[in-house]
Amino acid sequence: MEFIDLKSQYRRIKPSVDARIARVLEHGQYILGPEVQELERVLAKFVGTKHCVAASSGTDTLLIALMALVIGAGYEVITAPFTFVATGEMIALAGAKPVFVDIDPGTYNLDPARLEAAITPRTKAVMPVSLYGQCADFDAINEIACRHGLPVIEDGAQSFGATYKGRRSCGLSFVGSTSFFPSKPLGGYGDGGALFTDDDALAKNMREIRVHGQDRRYHHPRLGLNGRLDSLQAAVLLAKMEIFEDEIAARIRLGARYSELLAEAFAGTDRRVRLPQVEPHNTCVFAQYTIEVDHRDIFETRMKSLGVPTAVHYPLPLHLQPVFRSLGQGAGAFPVSEAAARHVVSLPMHPYLTEDDQATVVAAVRAAVVT
Ligand SMILES: Cc1ncc(COP(=O)(O)O)c(C=O)c1O
Repeated sequence: MEFIDLKSQYRRIKPSVDARIARVLEHGQYILGPEVQELERVLAKFVGTKHCVAASSGTDTLLIALMALVIGAGYEVITAPFTFVATGEMIALAGAKPVFVDIDPGTYNLDPARLEAAITPRTKAVMPVSLYGQCADFDAINEIACRHGLPVIEDGAQSFGATYKGRRSCGLSFVGSTSFFPSKPLGGYGDGGALFTDDDALAKNMREIRVHGQDRRYHHPRLGLNGRLDSLQAAVLLAKMEIFEDEIAARIRLGARYSELLAEAFAGTDRRVRLPQVEPHNTCVFAQYTIEVDHRDIFETRMKSLGVPTAVHYPLPLHLQPVFRSLGQGAGAFPVSEAAARHVVSLPMHPYLTEDDQATVVAAVRAAVVT
C-alpha cells in the first residue's frame, strides 16, 4: 500500500495531461506561458477571489506575500508553531521575527483565543496555517487582526479546496497562499504554488515580486525573486482541475469513513486513539488523515511490519527546531503544540483509496495501538 497514490490519478487523467503537456512542447513558452494565465483564471474562479498569482512553490508564495506587504526587519509576524517549517522560515527569511501562538487542540490550528495577547506594536501581520486540510477559524482571526489593522495571510498549503462557512480556503483573508507540491490536495508534477487576493495593488506587487521586482522588462523598482511557475506545471494542474471537485468529494467521503471505521474498531475496547475533529462549519480535504496515539514509535514500527505506511506531520514544533533556538522559547512554551507533536501520526490518504484499503489500514491500527 502507498501512503499517497499518484499513479491511479495519472491513469485517470492521462489523455488530458498528455495532450496539455504536448501543447506546451509545441508552443515552447515554458515559463509563465499561456497555461499559467489560464490556470490563474481557473483558480481565481474556483477560490472566488479577484486575483490569482501562480508561483514556483508554496514556500515562495509565502515569501512573496510577506515582501509585497513590506514585512522585514524590526517587525513581527504571528503564526502557529505546529506547522511545516516553511511558515516560520519565510517570516524569518523576510527579516521579521516569527511570534508563535499555540494551537487549538481540536483542529491543530492557531487558537484565536490566544491571538490578541501576542500582538505588539511591532506586529505587522498574522499568518494562520490551515493544517491537515481544515481551515483555521478565520472569522475570529480576521476580527482580531482587523481591530489592530493587521493583514491576515492564510498558509493554505494543505487546505486547497476546503471550505470554511461555505467559502473556499485561500479566499478567507486579505491574502491566501497554497502549494502544488505533488502530494498536496491539488498537486503538480513538481513544485508550484499560488497566491489569492481581492486587492488590486497587492496582486500587482506580488506579480512584480514574482519576477525579480520587475514592473516592465529589465526595469526593477523593488527587490523580488525568481518565483515563476513553469507552463508544464500549469498544464498538469489544469488537467487536475478537471477532476478536482470530484477528488475533494472523495477526500471528504474517505475521511468520514476512516473516522466511522476507527470509531467502530475501538468501541468497547480500552485502547485509545484520537480521531480528527472537523468543525461543523468546515469541510476538510484531508491533506493528511491524522490520528493521535500513545507510544507512537512502537505504533509506527508495528504498522510498518503490517505493510501500512505512516508519517509524522510534524515531530518537532517550530519553536523547538534548532534553527529557531535563538527565539529563546524552550520546551513548555507551547504545550498544546508539543503534545500534538508527540502523538500525531498520519495514515495513508488520497482520493483513490478503496474500501478494502481502508479496512486494511483500520485493522492494522487496531492491532498496532499500544494498550
Ligand atoms: C503548511 C505548509 N506551508 C508551506 C509549505 C511549503 O510548500 P512547498 O513545498 O510548495 O514549498 C508546505 C508544504 O509542505 C506546508 O505544508
